[in-house]
Parts: sequence; C-alpha cells; structure tokens
Amino acid sequence: MIIALDGPAASGKGTLAKRLAQHYGLGHLDTGALYRAVARDMIAAGKSLDDEQAAAEIALNIDPGSLEDPGLRTPEIGEAASRVAKLKAVRAALVDYQRKFAERPDGAIIEGRDIGTVVCPGADVKIFVEASTEVRATRRHKELIEAGHTITYDEIHAQIAARDELDRSRAISPLIPAEDSHLLDTSDLGIEAAFKAAIELIETTKR
Ligand code: CDP
Repeated sequence: MIIALDGPAASGKGTLAKRLAQHYGLGHLDTGALYRAVARDMIAAGKSLDDEQAAAEIALNIDPGSLEDPGLRTPEIGEAASRVAKLKAVRAALVDYQRKFAERPDGAIIEGRDIGTVVCPGADVKIFVEASTEVRATRRHKELIEAGHTITYDEIHAQIAARDELDRSRAISPLIPAEDSHLLDTSDLGIEAAFKAAIELIETTKR
C-alpha cells in the first residue's frame, strides 16, 4: 500500500507519516529531507543555489545516511531547499530516488509536496495535510526553540508564508492537492486526533 501525504510547511505531515509508518509497518520517506540535503550540500560546496548543473550532480549523489542529520531542520536550510526545489534537473533526480523507494514490495508512506500529483499519482490513498498559517508557525516555532534555536514567532510566520508562496507558485510540481486527495485540516487536531482521523480516512478509502 502506498500512502501519499502532501501539504505545506509545518502542517504536521512529518509526525503523522512516522506514526502511520509505525502503525502499518511500512517504510517512510520524508522527501523534504532530500531537497534539504541538496541545499545543505550546495551551501557546503560554496555553490550558488541557482546553479542547476551543480545541484543536479549533488541530487544524483545523495547519501541516504545523511538524511537524519539534525542540521537539515534549520529555517535557513528550509528556505534554501525551496530554492533548489524549483530546478528541473534536481526534481528529476530526486523523483527517481523517490519512485525507487516506492517500489518496495509492501509499499511505503511518502510525504512531501508533489507525491500525490507527480511522484506516485497511483498511490492507494492520498492525504493533503493542511493547517492555518498561525497554527503552523506556532508548531514550527516550538519545535525550533526546543531544538535550541533563537528565533521569534513573527520571523517564523513570515518565513513559512514566504516558503508556501514559493512552493505554490513554482512552474514545476507546485504544491497543490491532487484531485483525488482527501483534505485533513489539523488546525484544531492534536497529534493523536490527527493520527486517528488519518487512519479512518485510510481504512475507508484504500483500494
Ligand atoms: O518540514 P517542512 O514542511 O518545513 O519542509 P520540508 O517538507 O522539509 O520541505 C522543504 C522544502 O523542500 C519545501 O519548502 C519544498 O520547496 C521542497 N520540497 C519539494 O519541493 N517537494 C517535495 N516533495 C518535498 C519538499
């Protein structure tokens, strides 16, 4: 079974994806980490974030072992990830990586922006996870403060709004719900309630 979870920044897809992967005993791929890893490696190599050729080379050689790096979770890397995510050659290389992951015999839980629309259009269940910008900024702010970053709520709110705009307006694979996706608004749902709502959606709609 392939479950596609898409949605904007800090909508709660990551936490939900991990819980679902555990529940169903499936592999989980956080595709945002792939784009973040390309951004991290571009910055480390001193490359301009618009250098498509260099970024594609890096995207083709992602080290899967480096995707858990906590250094990927900073706001700066998130913003840089959104910039490299606009590049066609980067998307092509990373979509390949994601589709290979999706070929696992039991299936997988894959989270991102374009999983239901581009990466796995035939996914068994597609969920588009949403939450208001205020709720998302509050969650991300808490997460970053707990990880030791010094940043204000207002800065996070502005960054999230700017990144959403970039992700929604880009020419290739913009952030948009697949036509056959189910909307899950987690604005008023805690982790447990969102998990239960997702399970109900999956159990009633899976093919
Ligand atoms: O964790 P958060 O929701 O803030 O972001 P993320 O899922 O780690 O994704 C970081 C950035 O990578 C996004 O803002 C997108 O620009 C890009 N991305 C993408 O273009 N396509 C995906 N399937 C996943 C992420």
